[in-house]
Amino acid sequence: MVSDGVGKKFIDCFFGSRGTKCVSSPCVWGTRKDFIFHDFFKRKDFYRQYYGLRRIRRYSIVNYIFADRMQATRKSFIREILKVTQQPEVISFAGGLPNPGLFPVDEIASASVKVLSDEGRNVLQYSTTEGYLPLREFIAQRYLKKSGLKVDPDDILITNGSQQSIDLIGKIFLNKGDRVIIEKPGYLGAIQAFSIFEAEFEAVPLLEDGIDTELLDKTLSEKNAKLFYTVPTFQNPSGITYSEQKRKDVARILKKHNVVCVEDNAYGELRFAGEDLPTIRNYSDNTILMGSFSKIIAPGLRMGWICARKELMEKLLIVKQAADLHSNYLSQRIIHQYLSDNDIDRHITKIKDAYGKRRDLMVNMMAEHFPEGVSYTKPEGGMFVWVTLPESVSSLDLFELAIEENVAFVPGNPFYTDDTSGNNTLRLNFSNSDDEQIEEGIKRMAVCLEKLMGNTVRADSQKLF
Ligand SMILES: Cc1ncc(COP(=O)(O)O)c(C=O)c1O
Repeated sequence: MVSDGVGKKFIDCFFGSRGTKCVSSPCVWGTRKDFIFHDFFKRKDFYRQYYGLRRIRRYSIVNYIFADRMQATRKSFIREILKVTQQPEVISFAGGLPNPGLFPVDEIASASVKVLSDEGRNVLQYSTTEGYLPLREFIAQRYLKKSGLKVDPDDILITNGSQQSIDLIGKIFLNKGDRVIIEKPGYLGAIQAFSIFEAEFEAVPLLEDGIDTELLDKTLSEKNAKLFYTVPTFQNPSGITYSEQKRKDVARILKKHNVVCVEDNAYGELRFAGEDLPTIRNYSDNTILMGSFSKIIAPGLRMGWICARKELMEKLLIVKQAADLHSNYLSQRIIHQYLSDNDIDRHITKIKDAYGKRRDLMVNMMAEHFPEGVSYTKPEGGMFVWVTLPESVSSLDLFELAIEENVAFVPGNPFYTDDTSGNNTLRLNFSNSDDEQIEEGIKRMAVCLEKLMGNTVRADSQKLF
């Protein structure tokens, strides 16, 4: 929490004004501790008179007893890195941000004006937990058109983004100690969200064409698990896409072991090379399919969805209601208006063209400048390239050197559930940098790598991991 001083306003916020109960972040306490103590005790007599003794006692002892689940949850490492990378001079390949230059700002502005002027009082009102029916119908029709998937609009729940979808799914399934199978490396946000429910993780390695299905089968034979969480298309962080065979195999293996598949398709629409593939849901209806408007329209609208069988939908509606009653109704209406008035496929094609060019530039620059022994993926879509350094080279050491050169990326270890894996890996985002930044950033990284590795031979661009 940010505060600009220890004025009356700050003290009120921290200790609570008369008649108010105020919850405050411990980081305020941490950062300004001495000053706050000093200031507070100087004013103690005044506050004793003003608020009464009981209030002083209550707020002067800071001894929060947090829920056990908070111990199991790691702070998002990426959020921490992003604080460093927000300096304008830093070329950042760290965040997972879509390119804001491609947000349909004018179209969203027109859609907003239209829904507000036509139906202002209605769109600003509370709404249903399931979400706006015409928007759910649009999503169902798109599944049919893109993947041949027949989905009832009533099997779709609109959420405030896929991140909330993961949280809701965790809430209906996971007790403390329940096992979740994730990909190795896996999506950090899912690891964080499932950790809140004190889940145990079992990470199964990714190969070039998707998860190691033999190991998945073996793991499930040896250990019970409730969920398998996967991003099978343009995975975050690796950029890997499961082959069609892998999708079929995953569906078969999960069915055999009675494990629910949570298929996160956040990037599925962003294919700039190769052919579209069926979802895992096409092969097994014991799959919860998640989607999002974040990467194809704009993440600030906070809009995603869960597509699940009716018996799951009943439970999901309960936890959704308990969490926030319903997703942002104005956003739902704006998105639906935007989709009705514009050609979304044309817009997605624009995004894909732009990201495809950036990916090409990034991998070409790496092929030209990175030393031998460094390998990387060449994703057919999405927003990330995954880089593997020689075993003995630490991506954290590289990060320290690169930050001095004003280039940032995410070291790979946070994408693993243990502290020792992936120390020689890193994730690069290519969607949110322009050509000049990609060229300059990769050149600077190459200099750092050469310093660290002590050789200047060219990279082997064929090897993936
Ligand atoms: C794999 C994956 N799932 C979910 C999310 C969250 O997306 P949303 O903006 O829809 O909450 C992200 C965000 O980057 C992601 O990479």
